[in-house]
Amino acid sequence: MNILFIGDVVSSMGRDMVKEYLPKLKEKYRPHVTIINGENAAGGKGITEKIYRGFLEAGAQAVTLGNHTWDNREIFEFIDDAKYLVRPANFPKNNPGKGIVYLKMNNDEIAVISLQGRTFLPAIDCPFQKAEELVQEAKERTSIIFVDFHAEATSEKQAMGWFLDGKVSAVIGTHTHVQTADHRILANGTAYMSDVGMTGPYDGILGMDRDIVLKRFLTGLPARFEAPKTGRAQLSAVCIEIDKKTGKAKKITPIQINEDHPFYS
Ligand code: FE2
Repeated sequence: MNILFIGDVVSSMGRDMVKEYLPKLKEKYRPHVTIINGENAAGGKGITEKIYRGFLEAGAQAVTLGNHTWDNREIFEFIDDAKYLVRPANFPKNNPGKGIVYLKMNNDEIAVISLQGRTFLPAIDCPFQKAEELVQEAKERTSIIFVDFHAEATSEKQAMGWFLDGKVSAVIGTHTHVQTADHRILANGTAYMSDVGMTGPYDGILGMDRDIVLKRFLTGLPARFEAPKTGRAQLSAVCIEIDKKTGKAKKITPIQINEDHPFYS
């Protein structure tokens, strides 16, 4: 069982990279399931229904979100009907949407869980307690459990990795937009990576126009971040091979596509 996970898609440049490379990645890695983090997909903040549906049409089976979940107000109109949209499960109770989705693939079922960290991010419910609760629920149905942990601090991400080691198939970090070189399989069989990285503008700063970000650093004055619409683009992803009987990970392969790391099929 192979799971392909594409990291934080930013704006139209990121969406175009998904359209161009997802078919090629599928050919190369043969994933049974593809998951995309799409919380920055609409101009860098939030997601629209059209973009969510576009990801499914492009070949994804689920779309995860994060701290920008509510930034595009359109989300409130479609999140409850979007069967394969997963927002952080530890948002306050009664928030719209859901934090766990089950995907049926032939005779197998895959649980996809989204959680958000609390270090340097808004105070929400405890991601560790919520993880424990949801993993227990998911275990009743399947041993294949994928966790997107949307968090800022590497320490919190590593803590979640070890907390869930042996209980889930993978804990993959998102949000910081730079792929980390620490992909591994933890002692009890959980695939782990602190951050999968970003899919979008290659020459910006975390996917945003670098001149605007630089101006803010240099002047300290407020500036509205914008994602560039043209230029070089990148795609960041990870492929995880899982033993479907035990749910344990067998292999984790990081993927980077950009001009410095061209794609070879
Ligand atoms: Fe984020």
